[in-house]
Amino acid sequence: MCGIVGYVGPKQAVNVLIEGLKRLEYRGYDSSGLCVCTEGKLNVAKTPGRISNLEERIAGNKSIIAGTIGIAHTRWATHGAPTEENAHPHTSTDGKIALVHNGIIENYSTLKQYLEGKGYAFASQTDTEVLVHLISEFYGDGAGNLEQAVQMALAEVSGTYGLAVICSDEPDKIVVARRGSPLILGVGNGEYVVASDASAILEHTANVIYLNDNEMAVVSREGVRTLTIDNVPITKEVKQIEWSLEQIAKGGYEHFMLKEIMEQPESARQAITGRLDMREMRVVLGGLASVGREMAKIRRIVLTSCGTAWHAGLVGEFLFEDLAKVPTEVEYASEFRYRNPIIDEGTAVVVISQSGETADTLAAVREAKEKGAFTLGIVNVVGSTIARETDAGVYLHAGPEIGVASTKAFTSQILVEILMAMALGRRRYMSQQTMERYIRELDAIPDKIKTVLKQSDHIRDIAKQFIDRENWLFLGRGYHYPIALEGALKLKEISYIHAEGLPAAEMKHGPIALINDGMPAVFVAPRCGTYDKIIGNIEEIRARKGKTIVVATEGDHEIEKFTDHVIYVPDAPVPLQPLLTVVPLQLLAYHAAVLRGCNVDKPRNLAKSVTVE
Ligand code: G6P
Repeated sequence: MCGIVGYVGPKQAVNVLIEGLKRLEYRGYDSSGLCVCTEGKLNVAKTPGRISNLEERIAGNKSIIAGTIGIAHTRWATHGAPTEENAHPHTSTDGKIALVHNGIIENYSTLKQYLEGKGYAFASQTDTEVLVHLISEFYGDGAGNLEQAVQMALAEVSGTYGLAVICSDEPDKIVVARRGSPLILGVGNGEYVVASDASAILEHTANVIYLNDNEMAVVSREGVRTLTIDNVPITKEVKQIEWSLEQIAKGGYEHFMLKEIMEQPESARQAITGRLDMREMRVVLGGLASVGREMAKIRRIVLTSCGTAWHAGLVGEFLFEDLAKVPTEVEYASEFRYRNPIIDEGTAVVVISQSGETADTLAAVREAKEKGAFTLGIVNVVGSTIARETDAGVYLHAGPEIGVASTKAFTSQILVEILMAMALGRRRYMSQQTMERYIRELDAIPDKIKTVLKQSDHIRDIAKQFIDRENWLFLGRGYHYPIALEGALKLKEISYIHAEGLPAAEMKHGPIALINDGMPAVFVAPRCGTYDKIIGNIEEIRARKGKTIVVATEGDHEIEKFTDHVIYVPDAPVPLQPLLTVVPLQLLAYHAAVLRGCNVDKPRNLAKSVTVE
């Protein structure tokens, strides 16, 4: 989720690099850096914070300003906090090779061990640094040139990458490669701009070459040579970018929120990448490796958070009890801190936060620590205050979420809870057979989310029919009750329609009085233990002339007899179903808001990160 830009041509590279980084800043912005090659020497500058900090750092640095070839990076941290050492470019020990990288090197600890054994010293906590040392190792030992050294290094790597490398011994070329993280080559007039995203290229040229996975390129002043990472030359077509800069930032979508909803197959994959060991069939959570002893002592879990993250906590209550058999409670962070919570030995307080900065959630962490609790974070923003103040944690790796209404962070929060519950469960009651089943099912989730997303137009048609209604109900039971709450919250937040989420059976104890002719009620009712019961609840609404929209399991045609509208989602084990059933509700809220002409990305009165009590 970070940004890469590189330049070779007649201009001063630094200007192109800085402009490019600014264009990419929307993708990640916790630290940045660049490397320019001048008179056969690499000059590196890096800083935490925004690109403007980097500009200040390099102001007046003549060797950086003079160079006409360079690479740069804006980081959204995954491994290691957003510090100067962890910012890219990373350089080889002899200072001859510099590299920027997007993606995750999954086998970095094995590679690191190997390299340390050979005497390499590491200057950062990143997974990326192994790559530059590995390339340097091969460069000094057998490789004829930089591209060959890169190929040899990539042959050792598992994981994802988009990368750009330069070397002071071959000062006129940038070597780039791609697997899983985008890389685009801009072909200008005697100059070339490489970037992870077309927005950094468009100012210079609209002619681009899109690299596919397992392809690389050698970009020099003479031109571009494309090949596979196995060294087979390939011919690539030069294409025209047709998007405007604004469209590119939104990935071609009308709003960030829609982009983020649509990104969920990718963000879900990122949440599980490197954490499902498909060979040994176990869950590996690097962020919890240092607290194994404390994890073993957990007898009770208190989940605490705000807003959408609180709904993720409610799903977590089911997950930790079902999969790990640990008694679990959920508490609004704002309530937790003021109620003198009971924390005893064996209580783990797990806090969930996209931003890692929410004031109430942070206060809950401090309260819990004060009382001696073992605290764990489920956080998206690496190096955020909550991530730093908790004892340990697991990052979401969902990438920046810009739309105020949280979507992709929610599915990633649930995924991380599932992984944590599985890891805890395996230590206790979960059989290896069950473990293996969940691992396979989790691996299939990103593709299943893709199937749900294909129904966006159908969901918009449903939203259209109810667009003038000012009151909606969202109902679900068990795991689907928190999803009903989340569906209602999404609709309220961005469309300003009043919506209430309820456990379906509670409806008869009051809210049923609200039902009138044509009132929409959304049911989250995939095939699960309470399916028959929820059919009864659907009938109660219809008997009172309410209209029903049901999120059901693919193939459940029976449900069509009972409801006005159906949205199908693929089948999955019940604990994994929320990952699928929430997606149509996000789309329903999105389309309703757009149809009502609301500002979807910046709803009135709301803030993305609420840093006040
Ligand atoms: C705000 C946002 C919500 C978010 C909540 C918690 O209210 O508008 O979308 O769920 O804060 O934020 P966090 O960053 O802690 O997940």
